[in-house]
Amino acid sequence: MPNDPGFLPRAGAARSTLRPDIAAAALKGLTSQPKTLPPSLFYDELGCHLFYEITKLPEYYLTRTETALMERIGAELLPPGMTHATLVEFGGSEETKARYLLDLPGRFDRYISVDVAETALTEMRKRLAQSHEWLEVVPVVANFMHPLRLPPIDGPRLGFFPGSTIGNLEPSAAAAFLASARQALEPSPWFLLGADLRKSPDILIPAYDDAAGVTAAFNRNLLVRLNREAAADFDVSAFRHRAVWNDGESRIEMHLESLRPQVVHLPGATIRFAAGETIHTENSYKHTPEALVSVAQSAGWRLHRRWTDDQGLFGVFLFGP
Ligand code: AVI
Repeated sequence: MPNDPGFLPRAGAARSTLRPDIAAAALKGLTSQPKTLPPSLFYDELGCHLFYEITKLPEYYLTRTETALMERIGAELLPPGMTHATLVEFGGSEETKARYLLDLPGRFDRYISVDVAETALTEMRKRLAQSHEWLEVVPVVANFMHPLRLPPIDGPRLGFFPGSTIGNLEPSAAAAFLASARQALEPSPWFLLGADLRKSPDILIPAYDDAAGVTAAFNRNLLVRLNREAAADFDVSAFRHRAVWNDGESRIEMHLESLRPQVVHLPGATIRFAAGETIHTENSYKHTPEALVSVAQSAGWRLHRRWTDDQGLFGVFLFGP
């Protein structure tokens, strides 16, 4: 569990598996000014495990607040009269939240899950074959950020994008994704979105810089991954995790801060760091409900209903045609 140093990344602990695509992405970000790394690199095997641990942390209210909301609202989450429908989850290699909908009697006959992680989709299909043998499960291996082609769907359909992943997209990319999802779900598209909301940094900072150091390990694991897959030579212990609230942009930023002046090598590049210089690794936008609805409206959606928990921490939004 979180305090167990066994899961903290150690340079050189894993075997070498060079990935030219990852080396190219790292090189591009680390030679930019300011330095960045794409957040998609978080999710190697250890990163997925650490993210799962994050979702159980006392400070990380997002997952348990969203699931409690979905449990409380139940069938009301669905468009009026929707039965025998297809649920289309974007980024859904892990079906825990979809189960709240799939378990509603008579509502869904089919589950299409779009994700890049082919192995995780296969595992998900096996689990659902055991627990929901009446359900047709259709995995689609694709990046939902690219223009989408879904298999033909008969009857009603509901898009599903839980977990506040929308907050990890730049607002323009979020609008582009929502527009492309709308097009893929035509005719008569519906969409259920779960998103974390703007709130005090006193709640947000601990959620992204927890006492047990799990989020720090998640962030620093990027460097471990680059040592393994991009032949880099980061001294992981010379970087510290930082979570920063950017009020103007309404987002939590994650950074890795260099603790001293240092030089890091990647094939074909020498990267210099000043003491205190950071690599910007993630944005997590925290929109107000109104801002979120206006992003969705710019993508052609109409708000049908919205719910929040009693403290107004997290929102679930149902958009219709
Ligand atoms: C996946 N995503 C919604 C998480 C978030 O809250 O932005 C990723 C994360 N980063 C640090 N902790 C969790």
